[in-house]
Amino acid sequence: MMKNITRYLLCLCPVTFVFFTNYPKQSSCTMKSFQVGEPQQVECEASQDNMLADGEHVPNMFFVSTNDVELNLFGRNITHVNSALKIIKEGLDMFNMTSLRQTLNKSAIDFAEFTYIPGGHWKPNKFKDSSKVALLVPFRKRGQMLGIFLRHMIPFLLRQGLEFAIFVIEQANDLKFNRGMLANVGFTEALKFEEWDCVIIHDIDFLPRFDQNSYNCRNMPRHFMSGLAKRQKLLFYEFNGVTGFSREQFIKMNGAPNRYWGWGGEDHELRTRALIKGFNIYRTQWPYGYYDHIPHEEHSAADTEKKRKQYRKKASNYIRQDGLSNLKYPQPEVIIHPLYVKIRVNISNIPPSSPA
Ligand SMILES: *[C@@H]1O[C@H](CO)[C@@H](O)[C@H](O)[C@H]1NC(C)=O
Ligand SMILES: *[C@@H]1O[C@H](CO)[C@@H](O)[C@H](O)[C@H]1NC(C)=O
Ligand SMILES: *[C@@H]1O[C@H](CO)[C@@H](O)[C@H](O)[C@H]1NC(C)=O
Ligand SMILES: *[C@@H]1O[C@H](CO)[C@@H](O)[C@H](O)[C@H]1NC(C)=O
Repeated sequence: MMKNITRYLLCLCPVTFVFFTNYPKQSSCTMKSFQVGEPQQVECEASQDNMLADGEHVPNMFFVSTNDVELNLFGRNITHVNSALKIIKEGLDMFNMTSLRQTLNKSAIDFAEFTYIPGGHWKPNKFKDSSKVALLVPFRKRGQMLGIFLRHMIPFLLRQGLEFAIFVIEQANDLKFNRGMLANVGFTEALKFEEWDCVIIHDIDFLPRFDQNSYNCRNMPRHFMSGLAKRQKLLFYEFNGVTGFSREQFIKMNGAPNRYWGWGGEDHELRTRALIKGFNIYRTQWPYGYYDHIPHEEHSAADTEKKRKQYRKKASNYIRQDGLSNLKYPQPEVIIHPLYVKIRVNISNIPPSSPA
């Protein structure tokens, strides 16, 4: 018996060893010229190593336009897609949900495995996974990354057999970036299109490497990342980059905080909110939670660390006062693209509602 176990271990070890020494396969990328409003060129050295693990897909980091991603995905059927979009542009009524859904439904196109609805909404035809997932991508001035993101994410989600759509929520002003408030706007607007079971708040610069990192709606709240191209492991309390919540959980948590302007802080508070509500937080196991990072220029200055610390201390007070409950924003511009819905919104500071 003992001998067998030893032999078993001896057999397994080299396999594991090979897997981890070959892993992760970093493709080294450098940015070429960057000018605001211009597509950014990213040059990468392709990984020399072709030995991919099961379910592993190394993202292609070369710049690609969203038009080229559409052509690659639809091929000659792009003409059907474009005529469907034309119908929508003429008939879309953003203020009437019944009419909005009807118009989109009428322009659905059947592919062999999926039904496609303009706005980048895909439904598997054969039952695979019943999860209905909305990806909420807070966004500003990262246009050069959108093609790279969509080229990787759409095939990834299609392989997982999920019903999904991608919502890109763009902050339409020059205030500091507010990821939390954009997530709240995205949540509110996405639910006008469909009763999503869960939402995944997804930074545009992180790409999942493994199909085993399922974007289904089970085991929420979930931190989908357990490693990045830059660092192999994340700290256990981190909750950044890609996080998911069931619709009910997000509502119970009063969504994300609106009061963090600038990079960082809101992710910690999302975790605190989930813990206060007594939810178990899951994390995709290593190495399946490995993400590649699209290189870019540095983040804009954040609120001072001191201010963020103050906010964090008071997270439990703010959960009822700051979030979906006090969310206010002007009517956003909603644009139906073939592969995603863009929601452009001019957000501004909103005071937390007075304590209940
Ligand atoms: C595209 O259109 C052709 C011809 O109508 C069809 O055979 C094919 O299955 C369609 N779907 C895709 C995904 O290309
Ligand atoms: C919304 O659209 C539906 C379907 O087109 C229509 O029957 C209904 O009257 C509209 N409601 C309003 C308030 O305009
Ligand atoms: C469109 O609506 C019909 C009737 O409600 C429904 O059976 C069908 O599945 C819908 N199609 C899509 C693509 O949602
Ligand atoms: C955003 O809205 C504010 C008012 O809340 C306005 O002063 C500002 O000009 C708007 N910005 C843009 C870019 O539309």
